[in-house]
Amino acid sequence: MTRDAIRLRNVTRTYGASDGAVTALNDLSLSFTEGTFAAVMGPSGSGKSTLLQCAAGLDRPTSGSVLLGETDLTTLNETKLTLLRRERIGFVFQSFNLLPALTAEQNVALPLRLAGRRPGRSQVQDVLAQVGLAGRAKHRPGEMSGGQQQRVAIARALITQPEVLFGDEATGALDSTTSRDVLTMLRALVDEQRQTIVMVTHDPVAASYADRVVFLVDGHLNGELEAPTAEAVAARMTQLETVAC
Ligand SMILES: Nc1ncnc2c1ncn2[C@@H]1O[C@H](COP(=O)(O)OP(=O)(O)O)[C@@H](O)[C@H]1O
Ligand SMILES: [Mg+2]
Repeated sequence: MTRDAIRLRNVTRTYGASDGAVTALNDLSLSFTEGTFAAVMGPSGSGKSTLLQCAAGLDRPTSGSVLLGETDLTTLNETKLTLLRRERIGFVFQSFNLLPALTAEQNVALPLRLAGRRPGRSQVQDVLAQVGLAGRAKHRPGEMSGGQQQRVAIARALITQPEVLFGDEATGALDSTTSRDVLTMLRALVDEQRQTIVMVTHDPVAASYADRVVFLVDGHLNGELEAPTAEAVAARMTQLETVAC
């Protein structure tokens, strides 16, 4: 049986008021199935980051609802939303956002410490091993490559065993070889641990690691591809960018 990890229902997000108002998401309804890897693509300004932030509880829709399992994020107060983000959601940014003074294992343990939980040593070791960094626990970000730093950021996002791992251009700052290594690792998390992943990318090769690609234009869903190949995604993007211009 397949279950939705996250569901957006009629989500609209408007920035600003009256004359200057921008509709970043326009009555968008979309679900992401548990244990699958989805990529979100679309021209610049199409609402990809807004979609991810609303889905992850980092931003609030102007209207509509966002369901994480059975929980409607839009009904939660700030305190409950903060807790939900900490315990049930993982988020990885393009700029790794690691704390430079902390070692890899300290960075990874941070979400648990913030939650007032004492991280078990093996818990941190296990998640570092999962991202292929078993030998780097004592290294600080400045002593690691970009790809290794992003793996630490992914390990940090995974330490709480989130229901959904979100990435906004998470491989965007990496060279293509490193990016592929990280994508292969993300793919393995889905295949081996049934992790749910939703990743914004502008790279058709990155999108081809996903089970499904959804395309956004002007805050609307504009089709999707199952079992995408990089070629099919690139062709689709060219088509969308022509429409958007
Ligand atoms: N904080 C904000 N204030 C005003 N407008 C915003 C803000 N964030 C995003 N927007 C606008 O919303 C639209 C969608 O933005 P975004 O979700 O960042 O798109 P994408 O990630 O696809 O490039 C754009 O027109 C953008 O300028
Ligand atoms: Mg964006």
